[in-house]
Amino acid sequence: MIFTVAIDGPAASGKGTIAKALARELGFRHLDTGSLYRAVALRSLEGEDPVAAARSLDPERLGDPRLREPRVAQEASRIAAIPEVRAALLDFQKGFARRDGGAVLDGRDIGTVVCPEAEAKLFVTATAEARAGRRHAEQVAAGLDSTLEGTLAEVRARDARDAGRDVAPLRPAEDAVLIDTSGLSIEQAVSAALAVVRSRIGR
Ligand code: CDP
Ligand code: CDP
Repeated sequence: MIFTVAIDGPAASGKGTIAKALARELGFRHLDTGSLYRAVALRSLEGEDPVAAARSLDPERLGDPRLREPRVAQEASRIAAIPEVRAALLDFQKGFARRDGGAVLDGRDIGTVVCPEAEAKLFVTATAEARAGRRHAEQVAAGLDSTLEGTLAEVRARDARDAGRDVAPLRPAEDAVLIDTSGLSIEQAVSAALAVVRSRIGR
């Protein structure tokens, strides 16, 4: 059985939380594709050429806690605009999506580029204010220096870069179901997503 759930959306919209919960609930494997771009970004910040870093990336080694740092997120959205970086990461993502068994992938271009044939597509959004509030709370909890205003500015800058780039810009696939999580609890967002996916599995 091959069944792919493609989940896209902007920073801190809740797509990763939904992706993990769906994978757990359905027994599907899960790939956070943002961590691939973050891993390349970390190596770029350390002085390596981002294209060379993407070509030699080991996707099995994405556990570095520094990947969650705000400076890495910003650098990720810069190196993610380089076509050769995106091309180098594509085969791994496509293979992950279409191996036997179910898969959930979350990112920016899963439903549009990585897996346009996905059986279920979700586009998860929330207002920039709601997303910045969540990301700020996470950063404070992690003991990182963070202000709400600074986080909102970072979220907006990343949204603009991700939606404005020429290659694989952030946008909903035509057949994606939109879920706005601004006023939803995690449980509500997960059950809305699960209902969409189950209706597709039932077909
Ligand atoms: O993966 P993405 O960056 O889109 O977001 P996430 O990491 O899933 O969620 C960002 C933060 O928002 C996490 O701390 C979640 O617990 C929180 N969240 C929330 O408060 N309400 C939701 N409906 C979904 C996520
Ligand atoms: O968790 P959050 O939404 O904050 O970020 P992420 O999903 O870890 O992605 C970090 C950056 O990688 C994004 O701002 C995008 O520029 C890039 N990215 C991408 O271009 N395509 C993807 N499929 C996933 C991430």
